[in-house]
Amino acid sequence: MKVLILGSGGREHALAWAVTRSPRVTEVVCAPGNGGIAQIARPVSVDLKDLAAMARLAEAEKPDLTIVGPELPLSLGIVDELQQRGMRVFGPTRAAAMLETSKGFAKRFLQRHNIPTPNYAVCSSPAEVEKAIEMFHPPIVVKADGLAAGKGVIICESRATAAEAAQGLFTGALLGSSEQQVVIEEFIEGDEVSFLCLSDGQHVAPLIAAQDHKRIGEGDTGPNTGGMGVYSADSLLDAAMSDWILNHIAVPTVEGMAAEETPFAGVLYCGLMMTARGPQVLEFNARFGDPETQAIVVRLESDLIDALEACVDGNLLDAPMRWAPGASACVVASSGGYPGSYKNGFPITGLAAAAQVPGVQIFHAGSAQVGGQIVTAGGRVLGVTAAADSLDGALARAYQALAEISFEGMYYRRDIGHRALGAAK
Ligand code: GLY
Repeated sequence: MKVLILGSGGREHALAWAVTRSPRVTEVVCAPGNGGIAQIARPVSVDLKDLAAMARLAEAEKPDLTIVGPELPLSLGIVDELQQRGMRVFGPTRAAAMLETSKGFAKRFLQRHNIPTPNYAVCSSPAEVEKAIEMFHPPIVVKADGLAAGKGVIICESRATAAEAAQGLFTGALLGSSEQQVVIEEFIEGDEVSFLCLSDGQHVAPLIAAQDHKRIGEGDTGPNTGGMGVYSADSLLDAAMSDWILNHIAVPTVEGMAAEETPFAGVLYCGLMMTARGPQVLEFNARFGDPETQAIVVRLESDLIDALEACVDGNLLDAPMRWAPGASACVVASSGGYPGSYKNGFPITGLAAAAQVPGVQIFHAGSAQVGGQIVTAGGRVLGVTAAADSLDGALARAYQALAEISFEGMYYRRDIGHRALGAAK
């Protein structure tokens, strides 16, 4: 079986690693891939913003299955495009991906289906924002409707700053492109949990839950990033809470999308806030999380390809997944200066020694191979990932491996998992 993976980050490296473990897979192509992915899959250049180029690539490669990593190709309709050409592709259609690509669509959908989410207003003009923010007590959350690469959520301490933020989204001053809609949302507090599920359009199978660390600084301080580390542990959600989330959030979402004739097949990533009044949906993503996927695949004992194919074929319940008990952690090593400006091209040393640490997998997020040397090529460079019997054990392995690795300006948080470890004390 030949598999094509679209994407170039740590998530795609983790997916490529999991896919190559399947005895059914004989060839993996990753477009465009990165320096680490190139060690286990054939990289092919493609522009993930160019729908026609991606379709041409799929026609030329003739994969038995295409797996779409990031949201951008989903938003362009790559799944619809490949399906129309009779190809097998894992991911939601453009209409179903609106759960991620339009926050306004997602909020209205959640309300229509009585799925718990913070109160909100969808506004199409600054005048509507002025009116809506009178209904909310600061702090007020202002969200871009469209994709914003993690930069579209602004927490505002006053109504005046909320109005200003919304104005910046409408004019394009904040994100570089103008939003047609802005979501005003109630601010809620609690612990965030990433609850990812597979869906075949009708049925839902949860993956193991994980917790991301979005801020650059230790103690969850400083600007937001794409994710500086993540952990999964059996203790993160107990069985009763997992069942509740499955039955009150994930299943009604998939059933609601099917009832509205936009069935959702792919990964339904429920970004939840665990609050005093129960889990609330903060956002949906229509794809695997990054770096959640890195921590999830190292605990997957069954064949990922079986599960993804079952999603494409509509028989997910026939492909139950098995998970290693215990925990896993992924600690991201980033370039100095990230999430602001940073330089690329620094040689990365110690990767071979780090890979020798038991239970460790090193997934590359932003690296390139230049003349036999792996160099930095992005803000997030590596996701050093480990599984073990306990969270302490997984973190100890990841940090032991990180101690072997070095590149100029390398930075990583030393407190990944601190909320779980703090809670256990
Ligand atoms: N870890 C956050 C995301 O994948 O969007």
